[in-house]
Amino acid sequence: MKILVVIGRGGTGKSSFVALIAKYLIEAGQAPLLLVDADPDQNLAEMVGVDLKEAGKQTISELLVSTFIEQGGTTIGIPPSERIESKIWTSGLFEGDRFDFLAVGTKWVEGCYCMPNAALKAALESLTKNYKYVLIDSPAGLEHLNRRITSKVNDIFDILDHSKKSFDHVKRAYRIAQEVGITFDNFYIVGGYRFPQDLGRKAEAALKFKYLGKIAYDEQLDEYVLAGKSLLTLPSASVAYASVKEIMKIAGYL
Ligand SMILES: Nc1ncnc2c1ncn2[C@@H]1O[C@H](COP(=O)(O)OP(=O)(O)O)[C@@H](O)[C@H]1O
Ligand SMILES: [Mg+2]
Repeated sequence: MKILVVIGRGGTGKSSFVALIAKYLIEAGQAPLLLVDADPDQNLAEMVGVDLKEAGKQTISELLVSTFIEQGGTTIGIPPSERIESKIWTSGLFEGDRFDFLAVGTKWVEGCYCMPNAALKAALESLTKNYKYVLIDSPAGLEHLNRRITSKVNDIFDILDHSKKSFDHVKRAYRIAQEVGITFDNFYIVGGYRFPQDLGRKAEAALKFKYLGKIAYDEQLDEYVLAGKSLLTLPSASVAYASVKEIMKIAGYL
């Protein structure tokens, strides 16, 4: 099992990148995949053609609130992690033909929910063992990842946009990963679709992380997103898709 995490500032193309990695792994016969939307924006589902409401599924935060906070954690006997794990299996996990999907959601926000956080982490560690790849669409803050989801990942992909802030984001994200104790094998930088091509090597030299290449600007992808169409159905000729395949090959995926 490998855990891939995609981070970057809002609007850099994180969710699209996650969807295209999923397309690549699916087409390469690498199922079963688990996609986890941990970004409060919550647009990954639509990008892979999933409608959680229609499927009668709830987000993890909704399940945590109903399990531990509204019920006050009064259920006796069953350990918290098992309680939330069985809820996730029955009411949270969207099971598709080619991939499964989970949304972390926003209902349960800041504050010290130490018990639910610990229970969730244990539940996810057990649940993710069933997959070959787990792809996480993450917000910038890796501290959330460690507190709620996992402290051990394989590859982190930080997407750069054209602003100077994007470079600062990389440094900050790397520092936070160290500070909050996330362990990882690789920390990669990827040029987002608005990132200037010629800045790639400069970014690598300045930031000292391996630069995997740039996600190509793709008008068709943007049209799909606007129309709410699944990016998994983009034609193989899609330039963004072709660039993501190259990026994944450079990162050693197939
Ligand atoms: N390769 C691309 N080419 C053109 N537009 C893109 C590309 N990737 C993403 N976009 C557009 O940029 C916007 C933000 O993309 P998204 O993946 O939602 O970013 P994030 O998840 O980082 O906020 C969307 O409107 C999307 O259509
Ligand atoms: Mg997003």
